[in-house]
Amino acid sequence: MERKYTWHKIADHINELDFAANNIAVIELKGKKICVGKHREAAFAFAYKCPHAGGILADGYIDALGNVVCPLHRYKYNMENGRNVSGEGYYLKHWPVELREEGVFVGMEESSGLWNIFR
Ligand code: FES
Repeated sequence: MERKYTWHKIADHINELDFAANNIAVIELKGKKICVGKHREAAFAFAYKCPHAGGILADGYIDALGNVVCPLHRYKYNMENGRNVSGEGYYLKHWPVELREEGVFVGMEESSGLWNIFR
């Protein structure tokens, strides 16, 4: 089934996001803190906290393959699909990011069925 996203503009340009030295920026979207990670020419949005034991992923780092590494126990997650590539069986919540001419957008699925009816 095709997923329906609502796209939220988070910046006019990727360079406007406040990336720390580890290439991770923290933003607030719909009242929720999330991380945006930059790797090569792409950006990825994922949960602020690690699904293992709540490590702050914004304080971790992005490895050469584009995985975010949690600072607490070093579990690794693919930023694009949330897979726990170091093999502990967790799953990182993540959202698609699009870099468009008119800005940077994060897609979030709408949980309410009503939203789709009234759209
Ligand atoms: S809290 Fe992230 S690896 Fe344990």
